[in-house]
Amino acid sequence: MAPADSSWWQTAVVYQVYIRSFADGNGDGVGDVAGLRSRLPYLAQLGVDAIWINPWYPSPMADAGYDVADYREIEPAYGTLAEAQALIAEAHELGIRVLLDIVPNHTSDQHAWFQAAAADEPGARERYHFRSGRGPDGSLPPNNWQSVFGGPAWTQLADGQWYLHLFAPGQPDLNWDNPEVRTEFEDILAFWFDRGVDGFRIDVAHGMVKGDGLPDTADPDDAAQSLVQSREGHPAWDQDGVHEIYRGWRTVAQRYEPERIFIAEAWVPSNERLARYLRSDELHTAFQFDFLRAPWRAEVLRTVVDDAISAAATVGAPPTWVLSNHDVTRTVTRFSRSQPGHLIETDWERGRWADEDPDHVIGRRRARAAALVQLALPGTAYVYQGEELALEEVEDLPDEVRQDPTWVQSGFTDVGRDGCRIPLPWRATDIPYGFTADSAAVTWLPQPGHWAEHSVEAQDGDAESTLNLYRRALGLRAQLWRDAGDLKWLSTPSGVVAFERGAAQCWVNTGDSEVPLPESASVMLASAPGVLSALPPDTAVWLRSR
Ligand code: BGC
Repeated sequence: MAPADSSWWQTAVVYQVYIRSFADGNGDGVGDVAGLRSRLPYLAQLGVDAIWINPWYPSPMADAGYDVADYREIEPAYGTLAEAQALIAEAHELGIRVLLDIVPNHTSDQHAWFQAAAADEPGARERYHFRSGRGPDGSLPPNNWQSVFGGPAWTQLADGQWYLHLFAPGQPDLNWDNPEVRTEFEDILAFWFDRGVDGFRIDVAHGMVKGDGLPDTADPDDAAQSLVQSREGHPAWDQDGVHEIYRGWRTVAQRYEPERIFIAEAWVPSNERLARYLRSDELHTAFQFDFLRAPWRAEVLRTVVDDAISAAATVGAPPTWVLSNHDVTRTVTRFSRSQPGHLIETDWERGRWADEDPDHVIGRRRARAAALVQLALPGTAYVYQGEELALEEVEDLPDEVRQDPTWVQSGFTDVGRDGCRIPLPWRATDIPYGFTADSAAVTWLPQPGHWAEHSVEAQDGDAESTLNLYRRALGLRAQLWRDAGDLKWLSTPSGVVAFERGAAQCWVNTGDSEVPLPESASVMLASAPGVLSALPPDTAVWLRSR
């Protein structure tokens, strides 16, 4: 790792560590810092440039850690601050940068600030959004906003006042008009930067500033509100005032050498709106989510790639490519059913597909091909843990083990995101597949009975496994693509897209029939075995000019 290289993030492959489910070092069935430390060599061998760790702060886990009770500590179930610092140092030794997840839109209801607000200590409610209710007796919520997880975005305390929570009731929204909130978060950023953290993913980066006076949304369908469908004009999201916050954050990052970086998680209606977060004095980069919403269709993929590249270019930022994360259906499963002709809405997808059996064989072929497309594109790529093992979404969890607040808050109609958060299988043994140090431990979410074959151990020695495909792809990416410059589309038959960057080409076939590959290039890597002169359906290939 070159410490002085301040542009590392522009072409990085960032591996997302969902810490609860990555590896368990203390045998309690929940992933932790010790488990992650023990698996750093695995990540180094995989070839990633950085890890992004989902929230690891003390939390009552109303939303799997996105309800933070103390931003300057480590959740006791995950370890200690000293262990976290050791992890950062060890990752750096291995050439892996460390990005954390900052949750500034809301705290936990167990955070000292909210506890003070609940007790109505002087000034404490000013840090959140407290209001009186509507109706003669104030028994109706102050406005018509719905929580992303379902139900009203307001909860009433015993003294009659209501507080705003765009997510779970245990996640009260902070009032970013209060200067104390702004100062506190700049201080939290510096706390972690001082401990060697290389940057932050910003949770719900489009949510912190609300429309003046918290007006009703005009959208009568606000009940359908969901994170991935953030719509234009909703007073809870993407308000212009949010940008001022990021100008302040950028100055904090610039106090460090090399400069620390920010990645926005902002579900906004267009790439043009997203680009506003990436102006030169704001955030460095942002997830562009249309890639993970693109169905397996060549023409949609091409449009999504073009749009992402051109929107990022308007502000001089690198594009970003995400195939999945801890909030959406795993890639294998998304591609294992019939594909619509338009971008997929994740919530819609869960309901719409319930009756259609998944074909994971096809889903895996497509997911492997999609990975080669992702890793050949210019900019930053994010790999969610388990993608490198081609894990599928676990869709048959028993209702009684579900943990995602979406399940309860939707009135048991949306099963939520637990299925993409199942603890990883490391060893080709029985459950828990080496996930936990104690083989008798019960994992926090149950693993399926057939995951031995998808475990790291099973894939390690199999030359054709997805794990080895990722390892080869990440190694070759540095040679073929990392500094290859702009992308030029090649002309292809329908159902196929291909692009060239420098001396390399990437071809992907989403159609039904095999297509010939150019004779002037040789195959460097293919997502399926035996690809030489023709590209079969649901396959991608990297070529280099002879
Ligand atoms: C995170 C989710 C979380 C929500 C509320 C999201 O964007 O990725 O997992 O539930 O923010 O913090």
